[in-house]
Amino acid sequence: MSKYFITTPIYYINDVPHIGHAYTTIAADVLARYHRAKGDEVFFLTGTDEHGAKIAEAAKKAAKEPQAFVDNLEKKFKEAWKNLNISYDEFFRTTNPDHEKQVQEFVQKLKDRGFVEKRSYEGLYCVGCEKFMKESELVDGKCPDHLKEPVRQKEENYFFKLSDSAISNKLINLISNNEFVIGPESRRNEIISKLKLGIEDISISRATVEWGIPFPGDESQTIYVWIDALLNYYTATKIYGKDDFWPANLHLMAKDILWFHAVIWPSMLLALDLPLPKKVFAHGFFTVDNQKMSKTIGNVLNPNDLVDKFGADAVRYAVLREFPFGEDGDISLDKIATQYNNLGNNLGNLVQRTISMMVKYKIRNTKFETNNKIQIDNEINNLDFMEALKKIDDFCMEQNKYIAEHEPWVLAKEGKKQELTDVLATVYNNLILLPDLLLPFMPETAEKMKKQLETLEPEPLFPRLDNSPYAVKQ
Ligand code: MSP
Repeated sequence: MSKYFITTPIYYINDVPHIGHAYTTIAADVLARYHRAKGDEVFFLTGTDEHGAKIAEAAKKAAKEPQAFVDNLEKKFKEAWKNLNISYDEFFRTTNPDHEKQVQEFVQKLKDRGFVEKRSYEGLYCVGCEKFMKESELVDGKCPDHLKEPVRQKEENYFFKLSDSAISNKLINLISNNEFVIGPESRRNEIISKLKLGIEDISISRATVEWGIPFPGDESQTIYVWIDALLNYYTATKIYGKDDFWPANLHLMAKDILWFHAVIWPSMLLALDLPLPKKVFAHGFFTVDNQKMSKTIGNVLNPNDLVDKFGADAVRYAVLREFPFGEDGDISLDKIATQYNNLGNNLGNLVQRTISMMVKYKIRNTKFETNNKIQIDNEINNLDFMEALKKIDDFCMEQNKYIAEHEPWVLAKEGKKQELTDVLATVYNNLILLPDLLLPFMPETAEKMKKQLETLEPEPLFPRLDNSPYAVKQ
């Protein structure tokens, strides 16, 4: 039994969760459930990023005190994860006083080791990203992610000497030897080339942001929200008595925040001689109906609405089945509905017709050896969720085809009892392989399917949308 520590980003709590947050969290849940089923001791950590200018502005807009504001939204995240059957072990909040204390201690250690320097700085700050941006990163003077002009800010700040060549050289080596793994490969190469060009020091305090952790030794400043946030992965192990889970096995995120996880975070750890996470993986970004998700466009998909319409399992399945995990893609209500129907027509239909025929033709669940093996361990270990699900779908399709070709109903009519038994027992013995494979992706369906195969009482796994409570409301 080995230990497996997996994390999601801690999401900004400036608004309710959307399907983008759900996507990473579902993927992490699949891995957590997969490893638990394998017998590993799992620590699955998610949570919310609660400090900084972005949250303070959102609270102000809502005419609430920041703490009251985040306390209210935290519930929304937990509710969404409950609806999606996310089996996190701990939900982390950066406003946890134990975390605040440990972040201060960490920054103090960086200071003690000579990695912090006070300097005056002028730059363009994007509150949406919570980071300074270079002119070259802007498109028409705007942040390409938030479509807003960053604000020019001039402050005296404390800097983390990220440009220290001892650290960056060590990091380049660890990445090149794959001791610190960055995935996918293409993004790893991008990071290495960027690192080789040299990295700049990074401001780790804010003079104008009050909603944050006071900077040790200078209470007029707060600790930069990203330093506070990245540290959650490490402080959580201490707060929850899971010290022996560090280093993390995998930090999951999208490509928007890979630099923070692949460069800034490991540099902070290297500065204090702490072990680095084993792997960080950045999946793609998706659009909704081919547009960036935005409140103004009105195309933000709310995970709770989706679960109401399709059920948790179909949502989990649809987002991972639609496009490869490491690549950009598109999702929409229509695409999820199509995936739902595919599930019903393939897997759902297969289970129902097989069990119904076994009951109708009084075929007992006779033990029958089959050579058929289906394995998806490689795909899951490579985070190739789409391929894993496709394999399961293809397997179901083969079984449906086998039934169509062998026409059990004809065999029954012709009184060929032995052949009929063989055909249905073959399918049945292939079907009993599926619940274990489905479990990490669709835990409820796996459970229902297992039960139906035991009791031989079929019930639709994916009821038709038009006469079910999940019907798509037009
Ligand atoms: N608070 C920081 C993370 C700190 S982690 C130490 C943050 N929060 S966020 O709320 O903006 O979440 C960003 C993450 O949400 C992405 O990296 C990704 O995991 C997920 N996604 C948000 N929108 C998404 C898409 N449209 N597509 C795919 N993933 C999306 O950054």
